[in-house]
Amino acid sequence: MRYYILSAFVILALQTMNAQFVANYEESKVPEFDLPDPLTTFSKKQILTSSSWNELRRPELINFFESQVFGKVPGTFDGIAFEVVEESNSALGGLAKRRQIKATITKNSKTLSFLILLYLPKEVSRAPVFLGYNFHGNHTVINDPAIIISKAWSLNNESIGITNHTLTEESRGLRSGRWAISRMIEAGFGLATIYYGEIDPDKNDFTDGLHSLFYTEGQKRPAKEEWGGIGAWAWALSRAMDYVANDKEVDKSRVIVFGHSRLGKAALWAGAMDERFAGVISNDSGCGGAALSKRKFGETVAQINENFPYWFSGNFKKYNNAEEELPVDQHELLALIAPRPLYVASAKEDQWADPKGEFLSAYYATAVYSLFGEAGISSNKMPGVNSPIQNTVAYHIRTGKHDVTEYDWEQYIKWAVEQFD
Ligand code: GCU
Repeated sequence: MRYYILSAFVILALQTMNAQFVANYEESKVPEFDLPDPLTTFSKKQILTSSSWNELRRPELINFFESQVFGKVPGTFDGIAFEVVEESNSALGGLAKRRQIKATITKNSKTLSFLILLYLPKEVSRAPVFLGYNFHGNHTVINDPAIIISKAWSLNNESIGITNHTLTEESRGLRSGRWAISRMIEAGFGLATIYYGEIDPDKNDFTDGLHSLFYTEGQKRPAKEEWGGIGAWAWALSRAMDYVANDKEVDKSRVIVFGHSRLGKAALWAGAMDERFAGVISNDSGCGGAALSKRKFGETVAQINENFPYWFSGNFKKYNNAEEELPVDQHELLALIAPRPLYVASAKEDQWADPKGEFLSAYYATAVYSLFGEAGISSNKMPGVNSPIQNTVAYHIRTGKHDVTEYDWEQYIKWAVEQFD
């Protein structure tokens, strides 16, 4: 008898736990929540001017996202060196220049290297550039035999021929659908891309990758308030910026950081922290990216921390099933990018990333853009599918799945031409 009561109790407990991990996809079940006002400081002071935003509110928000969400970078690095390891003046059928640059970061007598693949339009002397990570190696973004294949660990993806966590010739060009490189070049833009696995392999292991360079003696993993994977990826986007800012053929005042999904989260955080990025594009970045956490729609804080315990700071776990305790929400991450152009995009079938939460986040960040006289999203009613709103803050929701498509790039490029020409 006692045994039955006990096991019934255990089953009930497990079900309750599971219920917390079942995603909600019903708008009617979105809880009522108080969204923090980006223009009121933690000590309840009203922000009325762009300078008080910059002096008071921006720093305290950065500080919160650093210590509680993405984690702090433990100190600075000792040095970085860049070496052009390959280049051509007639790539892509003579339309572009190509460079592959090896960046080597030094810290505590340890080093980490990664390769930047850069395409630049031949006819432009100082080109604006999209900068962003790819998921499966530089050689996947276009079918160009000159692109060096990374030796870094990769997530497997059989659909593009990646098994044994190893990148091979087999996947060359197989992700070109996600990178409208010819379109960029035609519009006069360049592309700089990096394989994110060279910065920190995407697995729950802190012995390798960038974190390990920063450890104090005997340290095995970041402390609770220190960076996770996304923090490391974001930080290294700034190291790539260190290179592009000094490339004479790049216009350093027009570098737009871009990212899809987990890499969209990294792009937003990099853009928030590093004001050298002239603009930011978040493609389907979802939970911990553009989407409001307090809606608890699709992926939640608990789910992301459970499935990817190494992405955020240890402190972020305090908010598992306790989103209401968060004194910030993701619209304030977006607001940290103001007054610089920001594009948030969603996909209709990507409910896991909560398109409506991504849209509302851009809408609520607009108050900060207004302070700077910049136009954002003026209505809280979502636009129809494939009907972009393109202001300094831009948004679209397209048909289709979680992905980066030709349609997405068509919009980003059109918007970027308007914002940065
Ligand atoms: C998972 C994860 C998301 C993430 C996505 C991706 O679905 O839950 O948060 O954005 O992977 O990076 O593709």
